[in-house]
Amino acid sequence: MSTAFVEAGVARAVARDITDVIGGTPLIELGNYSRSRGLGARLLGKAEFVNPVGSVKDRIAWAIVRDAEEQGLLSRGDLIVDVTSGNTGIALAAIAASRGYRTKFYLGDNTSPDKRRILEALGAELVTIPNSLFLDPDALVTLFEQVEAENPGAFIANQLGNPANPRAHYETTGPEIWRDTEGSVDVLVAGVGTGGTASGAGRFLKEQKPGLRVVIAEPGDLSIPSEEEVYPDEIDGVHKVEGIEEDRLPPNYDVTIADEIVQVEAAQAYETSRALLREDGLLVGPSAGAAVWVATRLAERPELAGTTIVAVLPDTGERYLSAGVFAPRA
Ligand SMILES: Cc1ncc(COP(=O)(O)O)c(C=O)c1O
Repeated sequence: MSTAFVEAGVARAVARDITDVIGGTPLIELGNYSRSRGLGARLLGKAEFVNPVGSVKDRIAWAIVRDAEEQGLLSRGDLIVDVTSGNTGIALAAIAASRGYRTKFYLGDNTSPDKRRILEALGAELVTIPNSLFLDPDALVTLFEQVEAENPGAFIANQLGNPANPRAHYETTGPEIWRDTEGSVDVLVAGVGTGGTASGAGRFLKEQKPGLRVVIAEPGDLSIPSEEEVYPDEIDGVHKVEGIEEDRLPPNYDVTIADEIVQVEAAQAYETSRALLREDGLLVGPSAGAAVWVATRLAERPELAGTTIVAVLPDTGERYLSAGVFAPRA
């Protein structure tokens, strides 16, 4: 039963709309994957692709819209705008469809073609921004000014800074992991896009168990845009955090949350997504592959033998079929 049903305090067999079935996702044992590698720790995946619109972003999109509705900032027909690598846009557009809003998103020109098609199918207006923009931190500030100027009167969801984002993870993702592991979770592994998942769920879990470790899976140098390679194979949705000045990081990323940051390249993340599919039947995207690759490195450490490691699996792999994640180039 989903968290939304429980939160409402009433047990209902039929959901009123998609927002009723957001959250309450299962923790799944990465059984064959762990056994075939002889891992000494228990590896669990938090299956966010089970959300109704297919990703962890359903949680924050609904939290942001609900918060705006409660504050009287949204009325039927209003326009919701954000800068997104896809999943937040898809979640916002689906929730907007169900509640009578319009959507417009600023989307990188390297966004997976499948995500773009889903956004188009949902009727979202799309503005393409060049990936090279992410080479220049000042350009992002300018982009946000442009977004505000181009959309007067719109509700800017601002997933990077809206406190409803980490709050959703503090109130749902973290407690679900704690409840479903019966308090046995020792390590949480996640990537950072906005930082909402790691900061919100991480904070909740550390409050329950001060010794719990939060480990961030961040893209290695080959997997982020550079002057030489503006379009490398990327781990969609997650960004580098190590060595970045604090005022250049998303406001929703709590810089004190990480106990360790481990680099993973896109090729390793893709390979892990393929392994999870073939060995355990889990069709997940590359940021899930990245988190599990890092969790695997941790599980190989003798000092972590016998611990329980939870890796967040943010979205479904169906969003990356055209991006070649499951059919590697020769
Ligand atoms: C596929 C994917 N994985 C992981 C993340 C990171 O989640 P968060 O924004 O909570 O840091 C995102 C966010 O954009 C994403 O789209």
